[in-house]
Amino acid sequence: MSCRIAGVRLPTPLVLASGVWGTSPTLLERAARTGAGAVAAKTCTLAPRRGHRNPTAIDWGHGLINAMGLPNPGAAEEVELLRDAARRLAALGVPLIASIAADTVEDFGRAAAIVSEADPALIEVNISCPNVESSHGEMFASSAEAAAAVTRQVKSSTPIPCLVKLSPNVADIAAIARAVAAAGADGITAINTMPGMLVDAESGAPVLANGTGGISGAALKPIALRCVHEISGAVELPIIGTGGVITGTDAVEMLSAGAACVGIGSAIVFRGENAFSSILEELKVWLAEHGYRCLEDIRGRTHRGAGAAVVVTNPPPVPGWEKTRA
Ligand code: DHB
Repeated sequence: MSCRIAGVRLPTPLVLASGVWGTSPTLLERAARTGAGAVAAKTCTLAPRRGHRNPTAIDWGHGLINAMGLPNPGAAEEVELLRDAARRLAALGVPLIASIAADTVEDFGRAAAIVSEADPALIEVNISCPNVESSHGEMFASSAEAAAAVTRQVKSSTPIPCLVKLSPNVADIAAIARAVAAAGADGITAINTMPGMLVDAESGAPVLANGTGGISGAALKPIALRCVHEISGAVELPIIGTGGVITGTDAVEMLSAGAACVGIGSAIVFRGENAFSSILEELKVWLAEHGYRCLEDIRGRTHRGAGAAVVVTNPPPVPGWEKTRA
């Protein structure tokens, strides 16, 4: 079950996605103890941020939507938490992924240098948060040039390998992936949440205090699979495939689309704190039942030109859906 990304060994292919369990060292340790092969801390910025007002996160029936507003204690305080987390995780052989965001290219470099003091195994460069205004005017993930500029700045600010986290909300995600690869990225996390909105029928008002938010969970999976398939067809970099993986079968699909390993986020909300051990067990059982020996056997199957699936193993949970397939 072990795998490697950017020269870093993960004992399992499941990665705690950034944000889900904050940066509390004890929570990050809990993810590692229950089956995560790497854990990502909540994104930090140079200055502390309070985040948005409540309501900030809601289960809307087909996944979650959230607009936290990047609440974090600022990079200088975060680095102390990361140090503690790195120490706890090292004892378990599980790498720590620090996560950074910034308003300017230069501040991405400064934030990378600060979190490097905790010596995380990897730094995730969050250029795709859907919920904060940037002085840049749009997400850095929106343009190949801006994404590449951030990547170059981070690479020249730290010796620690970096993963660039991309947004699904772009016209051509493969072009963005090629740009960050050419700029020196060591890997890609795909994808961040997809911007969306809930509206309350009675009042007509947006449900989230921020108005819009990022969609995750089941509704995001087909979008994430498409993005991972496109990126893995465009660049050689390892990908943490993240978005809507709730079961072991979802993880099989993500690896088949070309992911090196699999991010787990909303699943923790829907399946509880044993999500990692449950998904890992389901993945192992699926591989054994299908006669596969290791993860490499299924990685990138969407690119191998095999015939279309003959059996739909995971039908949509909509009564009567099969009648639409006549
Ligand atoms: C937030 C940041 C993200 O990168 C994301 O995908 C969702 C929410 C936030 O803190 O608002």
